[in-house]
Amino acid sequence: MKPTARSDDRVKVRAPGKVNLALRVGGARPDGYHPLNTVFQALSLFDDLTALLAPAGEYRIETLGDQAHLVPTDDSNLALRAARLLASRHGGEDRYGVAFEIRKTIPVTGGMAGGSADAAAALVACAHLWHIDISPSELEALGAELGADVPFCLLGSTAFGRGRGDVLVPILSRGGYHWVLALPEVELSTPAVFRRFDELNPDAGAAPPVPPGLLEGLASGDVRRVAEHLVNDLQPAALSLRPHLAEVLDAGVGAGALAGIVSGSGPTCAFLTANEDAAVRLSGALAGLGVCRAIRRASGPVPGARLFG
Ligand code: C5P
Repeated sequence: MKPTARSDDRVKVRAPGKVNLALRVGGARPDGYHPLNTVFQALSLFDDLTALLAPAGEYRIETLGDQAHLVPTDDSNLALRAARLLASRHGGEDRYGVAFEIRKTIPVTGGMAGGSADAAAALVACAHLWHIDISPSELEALGAELGADVPFCLLGSTAFGRGRGDVLVPILSRGGYHWVLALPEVELSTPAVFRRFDELNPDAGAAPPVPPGLLEGLASGDVRRVAEHLVNDLQPAALSLRPHLAEVLDAGVGAGALAGIVSGSGPTCAFLTANEDAAVRLSGALAGLGVCRAIRRASGPVPGARLFG
């Protein structure tokens, strides 16, 4: 699958990863999900998906990039599930077919919504490729069936998330934010982190509110105010499962970050910096310390999943 010419049979979509600037978590609901009050920012760390028309009933995927071998390519793959879900709601899986190629840049199981970004990209790509007339709100509803972060990967930019994190309202955000992302050697499973949260917070009730200072900082483009109010209620759970992350966070703050947090359920650690120069310096310093597997720089906010190329 190495298409060179642009045609109606081929669509390219780019989808962003995310960091939660605030992730406030309540006690588990009867369905096992946790109520959230969260602020998402989409980052310029993208997965690029190419979708090629395939014979009806055929759904295939190939992944490329750094950690591509860690992504399942069977029917559990979230992009394939997205394609099948869209097809099943618009005439049936046997009526359509698609072959995906995904170039991964978003860390796999890193707490940055990499799988959700691929699902969002697959929905946008297949709707276009198969000429399915679908509204953004219908796409969002399909996305929410696939995973709590998929609607945000469709929307992008900066948004407030309630419910499971899938009920979204855009947030006013001025300016650009420069991040350094430290990708540790260790892995973390999202359900395991939520389970540890339950153990650490047996009396958790409703999700606490996001800090008003964070929203004020975003509205005025004040990066230092934003940095002061970053909060992740899953961080103690992630640190208790992977104590090494505390060392990574200390190293980033010691090397000049305004603040450092675990991204989502981790293990990626996200450091907010004062500006692009500071991010370049911090990424160099962190690389030199050797506390993690890889370092990436990214800025946000950026748009959600969209056609390109
Ligand atoms: O929705 P998604 O499949 O991305 O969620 C992965 C897992 O994260 C869920 O199975 C659940 O264990 C946990 N989760 C949660 N509460 C949320 C979002 C995710 O407990 N609001």
